[in-house]
Amino acid sequence: MKDILAQIDQKKLPKHIAVIMDGNGRWAKKQGLLRAAGHKRGTRAVRETVEAAAELKISHLTLYAFSTENWNRPKAEVDTLMKLLVSSLKKEIATLQDNDVSLGTIGAINSLPEKAQRELNEVISKTKNNKGLKLTLALSYGSREELVKTVQEISNKVKNNLLSPTEIDEDCINKHLYTATMPDVDLLIRTSGEQRVSNFLLWQIAYAEFYFTEILWPDFRKEHLHEAIYNYQKRERRFGKTSEQIN
Ligand code: IPE
Ligand code: IPE
Ligand code: MG
Repeated sequence: MKDILAQIDQKKLPKHIAVIMDGNGRWAKKQGLLRAAGHKRGTRAVRETVEAAAELKISHLTLYAFSTENWNRPKAEVDTLMKLLVSSLKKEIATLQDNDVSLGTIGAINSLPEKAQRELNEVISKTKNNKGLKLTLALSYGSREELVKTVQEISNKVKNNLLSPTEIDEDCINKHLYTATMPDVDLLIRTSGEQRVSNFLLWQIAYAEFYFTEILWPDFRKEHLHEAIYNYQKRERRFGKTSEQIN
């Protein structure tokens, strides 16, 4: 595939790109390797995607790394993923610093192993003053869990007279989500040919453009992100209006 980087319009970049990184297991199977090898190779794709997004000056990149449902995988695979998270954070902090990237998380982070929480906190704190791309890892993330948490927090405020029911509007809900400080998702990418949302950012993708690719996550490279953005820029986002109103 010829790289289309030169054809990307700098003035029409998506503010927030979210990626469902899928296909590590199938990639490994194709190579006759264990699933763990697929997850390991997936870290290169993460590095390339982060670098490509930073180079393009994208403001927010959110990567779905581990879902609430992924806890139901065999314990050995969950352990491998958690160890890989820790080793990747240690290894890739340099990539984040070199590219002026700050790290954040969304999800039930307190359900991760202590070691992973500690490493995450360390990298978050070391990169907090970086001014470029805001990279968010969705870890033990489930959109329904996020919405339940949001409803509980809001109800508690109402119960304690800190909030009146009439003050509950879209903005109020936004402020109680893990993504409180982020803009809505403009572009949602899913690799590996699956075309589903798998409990990812249900509220935040209300008007996102979806981009599905057959590429398995470990094979995803910078030019694939460029391709997705180029494709996104060809679309007309109408937000309920007519084409004539937009143009
Ligand atoms: C994505 O790859 C990584 C995680 C969900 C943690 P998969 O592990 O889902 O790979 P497939 O879908 O089985 O190929
Ligand atoms: C979604 O992928 C979760 C992540 C990419 C972390 P899955 O592979 O877990 O999704 P399903 O089960 O195929 O929908
Ligand atoms: Mg999968």
